[in-house]
Amino acid sequence: MRQVLYISTAASGVDGAAADTILATSQRNNTRDAITGLLYFDGKRFLQALEGESVALDRALTRIEKDPRHRAIVILSDRDVAAREFGDWAMAHRAPGADADAFVAKIADLVERASPSVRATFTSFAETRRAA
Ligand SMILES: Cc1cc2nc3c(=O)[nH]c(=O)nc-3n(C[C@H](O)[C@H](O)[C@H](O)COP(=O)(O)O)c2cc1C
Repeated sequence: MRQVLYISTAASGVDGAAADTILATSQRNNTRDAITGLLYFDGKRFLQALEGESVALDRALTRIEKDPRHRAIVILSDRDVAAREFGDWAMAHRAPGADADAFVAKIADLVERASPSVRATFTSFAETRRAA
């Protein structure tokens, strides 16, 4: 099982309604591809965890990277995991709040061993959220 975490910046005009559309597409495709995870959107940036078989994840990431609704994708972590760590959701959504804080804390843990530039990207995301 492979797990990928990334962060990206929403394109201008992408709002909560657009994020709902993205979520619906993701849930449909991810159910088909046995991909699970979480999608967090704070109105400005996306933070997504994807878990599944490596080839299925590659295909999903290729589509996601081409999507003009976001840009500046930074992979925070890409590793093998023994079991799914983000639950069984075809793509759960986390709006700001307590659960989102737990999600961000979990990712902070996971990126602890990542390269300094990846950690810095994540830290700046977390700080942006606090300021929001
Ligand atoms: C932040 C973000 C996260 C996305 N996550 C997923 C995802 O988990 N699974 C997926 O299939 N598509 C995801 N997409 C959508 C894809 O970029 C693309 O629009 C979709 O896969 C096209 O599917 P379709 O050809 O079936 O309409 C995401 C897009 C964005 C902007």
